[in-house]
Amino acid sequence: MAKQSNFKKSKAPKLSETTMTQIVFPNDTNPMGILQGGRLVHWLDTAAAICSQNHAEHICVTASIDSVKFKAPAKVGDIITIKAKVTRSFHSSMEIFVQAWAKKVLTQKEYLINEAFFTFVAIDDYANPTEVPVLKPTTDAEKQEYELADERKKARLKSK
Ligand SMILES: CC(C)(COP(=O)(O)OP(=O)(O)OC[C@H]1O[C@@H](n2cnc3c(N)ncnc32)[C@H](O)[C@@H]1OP(=O)(O)O)[C@@H](O)C(=O)NCCC(=O)NCCS
Repeated sequence: MAKQSNFKKSKAPKLSETTMTQIVFPNDTNPMGILQGGRLVHWLDTAAAICSQNHAEHICVTASIDSVKFKAPAKVGDIITIKAKVTRSFHSSMEIFVQAWAKKVLTQKEYLINEAFFTFVAIDDYANPTEVPVLKPTTDAEKQEYELADERKKARLKSK
């Protein structure tokens, strides 16, 4: 159970929204030159960690990863852009929605390759869960995701 505090700060999602870019090198790929799934998930996890820590102002750990969808392959030489955004904060946990796109250098054509939900938990100096700021959604899309996040959290905990 997260330790209670007087930390009642509220923050907009855009304050912690994170964009990370990578280039796919041969060492990131399978023998067909396709970006390995595990490497991509590692990058998504890093972007989500940066995003959650900027929201929480604490060290955060990955508690779960779900609904990971590999929608299209990326290939060696492609530029990968990853965006991570907090959809809702609870007590000590936050849901982060992460999307990744691949861009072909020569044509500049960009397409969605992955989407996933990460749950991060903020921890204190003793690695115990600790309270995070309230998320204050501002746009209609953010408000909608905020509402849906509650149902997703319930489903996640049910399958824990
Ligand atoms: C994540 C962790 C800190 C949760 O600790 P815990 O003692 O189980 O804490 P609690 O049961 O009080 O849960 C704390 C929060 O995590 C959430 N949580 C715990 N397990 C979860 C799961 N599998 N999926 C989603 N949320 C989860 C709880 O809902 C709660 O959220 P809330 O405070 O916002 O309501 C702990 O399980 C842990 O350290 N796991 C290993 C993390 C790790 O090594 N990650 C990889 C390296 S970063």
